[in-house]
Amino acid sequence: MFPFPHPHQLHVSLVIFVPVVCAIHMAPAAAVAGVGSEEGAPALLRLLQRVQSEALRALGPRDFDPKFYVDLPLAADASAVGAALSSLTRPALSREVMEAFISRYFAPAGSDLVAADPLDFEDEPRGFLPKVENAEARAWALEVHALWKDLARRVAPDVVARPDRHTILPLPGRVVVPGSRFREVYYWDSYWVVRGLLVSKMYDTAKDITLNLVYFAEKYGFVLNGARSYYTNRSQPPLLSSMVLDIYMATGDMVFLKRAFPSLLKEYSFWMSDIHNVAIMDNHGRVHNLSRYQAMWNKPRPESATIDEEFASKLTSTAAKEKFYHQVASTAESGWDFSSRWMRDSTDMTTLATSHIIPVDLNTFILKMEQDIAFFAELIGENTVSESFSEASNARYNAIESVLWNSDMEQWLDYWLPTDGNGQVLTKDISLMSYNVIVSNGANTLILLT
Ligand SMILES: *[C@@H]1O[C@H](CO)[C@@H](O)[C@H](O)[C@H]1NC(C)=O
Ligand SMILES: *[C@@H]1O[C@H](CO)[C@@H](O)[C@H](O)[C@H]1NC(C)=O
Repeated sequence: MFPFPHPHQLHVSLVIFVPVVCAIHMAPAAAVAGVGSEEGAPALLRLLQRVQSEALRALGPRDFDPKFYVDLPLAADASAVGAALSSLTRPALSREVMEAFISRYFAPAGSDLVAADPLDFEDEPRGFLPKVENAEARAWALEVHALWKDLARRVAPDVVARPDRHTILPLPGRVVVPGSRFREVYYWDSYWVVRGLLVSKMYDTAKDITLNLVYFAEKYGFVLNGARSYYTNRSQPPLLSSMVLDIYMATGDMVFLKRAFPSLLKEYSFWMSDIHNVAIMDNHGRVHNLSRYQAMWNKPRPESATIDEEFASKLTSTAAKEKFYHQVASTAESGWDFSSRWMRDSTDMTTLATSHIIPVDLNTFILKMEQDIAFFAELIGENTVSESFSEASNARYNAIESVLWNSDMEQWLDYWLPTDGNGQVLTKDISLMSYNVIVSNGANTLILLT
C-alpha cells in the first residue's frame, strides 16, 4: 500500500530474565525513502516553511511557535505570496516588515475553521451524570459540558473552494478541536472528545467526529495524526475501533456501525503492514507478531521544523539527521511525544529510538482493535472475519505475555529491538542480545536484560 519503507521483518531471538550490565548502542535506522518534496501539497508546505524560517530570523526565537506559520491560510495565490516573500529586503528583515507581510498575504490562523453550533447540545441533557449529586460538582460539570459550544467547528467554505491555499484538510463533518494552538482535529484526542460527548449525550456530534476519522481511513488507508496536510505521513494511537464501540454501546446504531466497519479493516491492514508489524522469535522458537510506531517521514516535521532542525544541528551527516527526523516523527505517532521513554539517553533528544521499541500500550490498543472488530463482525454476520480476528487477538495476547511480560517485576515492559533490522536473523549470541528495557509507564527504571 505504501512505497515505503522496504519490507523487512525483524527476526529477533529473545532470552528473558538473565541480568547483565551492558549498555547498548542501537543503531537508529529504518530505511526511509523520503520524497515528500515532489508531491502536490508539499509545495504549499515548502512555501510556508520558508515563511516560518524567515519569521524566526525576523522575530527571534523568543515565544516563537513554528506551527503558527504552517497553519496560516493564504490570502492570495501561492505564486504571488512566494514572489512577495522573495522580494522582501534581506538580510535584515525587521519585525515590522515581517508582520506587514503576514497580515497582507495571509488570513488569520484558525480562520480555516468556522464555529458550528452543535445541534444536539442541550444546556442540561436528560440523564446527565446521574450519580453526581453534589450541587457544586454538578454546576462545574455543566460548565465543562458548555465548552463543547466553544470547541465545535466546521471547515470553512474557502478550504473546499481553494484547497491549495490551506494546510487544513477538508473534513465532511463537524469537528471538535482541542483548542489554543491546536486548531485542527487530532486522532487520539478525538477518543477522549468522543467519551466526553457521550457523557454529554451528544451522540450525533460523536458520530460526526468519528466519521471524519473514517473518511481519513477511506482516503489515505489509515487515520492521520491530525487534519493537516503536514500530518499525512503518520498516524497516532489507534483508537478508532474504541470510538465506534463506545458509540455503538451508547446508541445501538447499526447503520453507523456498518458504515465504519470497512474502515476498521483498512486501518488494521495499515497496522499489520511491514511498517508497523515486527515478527519476533521468542526463546522457545515461537514467532510472534507485535507492533511498533514508525512514521513514513524523514525530514523535519513542518509544524516544528525550526525546532527539529535546531536539535539536528549537532548531528553531522545527512544520514544521521534523516534518522533523527524519522524518529522524531515516529515519536509524534506514539501520541506521547518527547518522553525519555523513547530515548536511549534520557538527556539527549537525538537518541530517540521509537521505531526500535515494541510498546506495551500500542500492542494493547491493537489487541483491543482485534477484539472490537471480532465483535462487530459477529454483529453484522461476518462470521469468518469474526473468527479470524478472534484468533489474531488470541495470538497477540500470547505475544504480549511471552515477549512483554516480566514476571520478576510483575509488569509488562516495552521491548527494545536489539537491531535496526535489515532482515538478519540474530542468534542468541549474548553480545548481540544485549538490550535495555524501560518500564512502560515512562518511569526511568532501567532494567538490563539479555
Ligand atoms: C506521505 O503521505 C502521503 C499521503 O499519505 C503519501 O502520498 C506520500 O508518499 C508519503 N510520503 C512518504 C515520504 O512516505
Ligand atoms: C504473523 O503475521 C503473518 C503475516 O500477516 C501471518 O501470516 C502469521 O500467521 C502471523 N503469526 C501469528 C503467530 O499470528
